[in-house]
Amino acid sequence: MTTCNQINHRETLCVRPMGVDDLAEVFHIGELIFTAEYSPSLYRTWDEYEVISMFNSDSELCLVAESGDRIVGFALGTTVDKHHSAWKYGYLVWLGVCPKAQKLRVGQNLFKKMKRRMQAQGVRMIIVDTDADNRAGIDFFTKLGFGNIQEHVYMTLNLDRQAKKKKRKKEKKEKPDAANP
Ligand SMILES: CC(C)(COP(=O)(O)OP(=O)(O)OC[C@H]1O[C@@H](n2cnc3c(N)ncnc32)[C@H](O)[C@@H]1OP(=O)(O)O)[C@@H](O)C(=O)NCCC(=O)NCCS
Repeated sequence: MTTCNQINHRETLCVRPMGVDDLAEVFHIGELIFTAEYSPSLYRTWDEYEVISMFNSDSELCLVAESGDRIVGFALGTTVDKHHSAWKYGYLVWLGVCPKAQKLRVGQNLFKKMKRRMQAQGVRMIIVDTDADNRAGIDFFTKLGFGNIQEHVYMTLNLDRQAKKKKRKKEKKEKPDAANP
């Protein structure tokens, strides 16, 4: 089981491309970070297929930060080309640093390398998103030069609950006495 990895102060921090052997560790570190308490939306969308799919679609923009032989953080990004537009966007989808390694410049180092790689691919603007109450995340991105904050609303529709409601309604219609004895 992955525990929260710490910085090994005797080793230098190395940011390198994520390899196939890193997938499981990155997934488990993400599980420690993107919990339901931290963010219900990130918790729902973080799973092993997410890591694999990011790696499949843009392995050049999948990075890990390593201290000693332990991964202490990761950044997973992609690019978006707009049809009929000269603009190419970089989208930093996931950025996570092990809780015990936070505030030690790991995130900053991951982002710097990601930015360089995106620039090399012709990206002219980088997009990030996070929960409106993720103060640490917002302060982090602001420190790195991001601005123009736009709030957006995240909504859910529980299809399971909706199906159960429909079923109850149908039963009530078919057997009105059974529903109201
Ligand atoms: C956001 C996150 C990636 C930052 O990584 P980090 O390695 O801890 O950040 P760094 O040490 O590189 O910080 C760089 C700057 O960001 C700001 N910052 C980072 N963490 C902060 C915090 N908890 N509170 C306030 N500012 C913070 C500081 O200005 C800092 O500069 P300083 O060291 O000169 O004070 C990390 O906290 C994390 O993994 N959070 C949970 C996941 C998350 O929110 N990801 C982003 C959305 S997907």
